[in-house]
Amino acid sequence: MNRNIREVPIIFLGLGNIGGTLLRQILETRATVAERTGLRLVPIAVADVSGLLYAADGLPETTLSAALEATRGGGTLAALPGLRPLSALPSVLRPGAILADLTASPKTVPTLHAALNAGCGVVLANKIPLAGPWAEAAPLMTHPYLRYEVTVGAGLPVIETEHYLRDTGDCITLIEGCVSGTLGYLCAELERGVPYSQAVAQARALGYTEPDPRDDLSGKDVARKALILARTAGWSLEEQQLAVEPLYDKTLASLSVEAFMTAASTLDEGYVARVAEAQGQGKVLRYVARVTPEGGTVGLTAVERDGPLGALRGPGNYIALYTTRYQPLPLALSGPGAGREVTAAGVLGDILKLARQMAM
Ligand SMILES: NC(=O)c1ccc[n+]([C@@H]2O[C@H](COP(=O)([O-])OP(=O)(O)OC[C@H]3O[C@@H](n4cnc5c(N)ncnc54)[C@H](OP(=O)(O)O)[C@@H]3O)[C@@H](O)[C@H]2O)c1
Repeated sequence: MNRNIREVPIIFLGLGNIGGTLLRQILETRATVAERTGLRLVPIAVADVSGLLYAADGLPETTLSAALEATRGGGTLAALPGLRPLSALPSVLRPGAILADLTASPKTVPTLHAALNAGCGVVLANKIPLAGPWAEAAPLMTHPYLRYEVTVGAGLPVIETEHYLRDTGDCITLIEGCVSGTLGYLCAELERGVPYSQAVAQARALGYTEPDPRDDLSGKDVARKALILARTAGWSLEEQQLAVEPLYDKTLASLSVEAFMTAASTLDEGYVARVAEAQGQGKVLRYVARVTPEGGTVGLTAVERDGPLGALRGPGNYIALYTTRYQPLPLALSGPGAGREVTAAGVLGDILKLARQMAM
């Protein structure tokens, strides 16, 4: 097809699981993307905490391959030639470029503002900038050149669906779902009769949890996602308006990770009892987020075994949007809520939409 191809400079903030996979996808899908969209994505900068590689006209493929090789398996860019300090990042921002925040860091917020002020687009995989106080999150979340689809449900188009509902004059009234693959795994294991401590140890060994499993068990990550869904629905909720049930006792909060893993067996009996109580009602336990304009709850909930939440397995997510038009049956999305390939592809989709939007 003969068409004009427009180059879009891309800046990577973070080259871990998602950043590395996205870079690989961009290199592998260049021809298809150019043919279908008329856009050629050109990585001009890649950064991690050790520093920044930059070339105004696009980093050579040899450099990008070396960056992918160096960061595979948790390594950093530190030893690569030409590395600049991370503090040089503001100087590489330019109008029309798209910066992707593929970190899990609160420290990127000033860079995100600098990028938007410089006329860049911004795509987030990082939830943290959107889940703090609303006064701080609002200027980012409501900016026309910022997209954040994968912050909830990975590649599932839930944010886009919320925007579509609101743009067409519908009114979201209730959001309910399971948005943690890790806690979904834990619930399924509890249901199978695996003791809590063993299920947590397995999830950790399989790499499903953060190195400190309490980061997942605290429910904070689910609460952040619930807040993002709520705010996208137009409800400017704060974290304190969500009642969050952690999946460990607060007396275990100050222990070292290893001491926590040992002490976790003291919680086994309590969870056996809760599973049995749910089963006695013909139900199963799931870690459910439920939000309305007034606030919400995040925690273990007994749900119908044969319902959409009860049927979830593994990293499966399910999000139901109840609206003025979609009731009593909600508009529901279901599918993998984690995974490098689907998440990176979701970021890629956001980049392409933003690039087209910014050209209008
Ligand atoms: N994995 C999934 O399925 C999934 C799904 C949806 C959303 N997400 C989100 O995607 C994000 C990335 O996840 P991941 O699994 O790729 O994490 P990861 O493997 O830990 O990678 C994070 C990357 O960010 C870099 N980084 C950290 N702080 C930075 C800073 N201040 N400036 C520049 N770079 C910085 C890290 O550099 P160093 O290595 O040098 O520390 C690393 O390259 C997270 O916010 C996660 O919640 C992930």
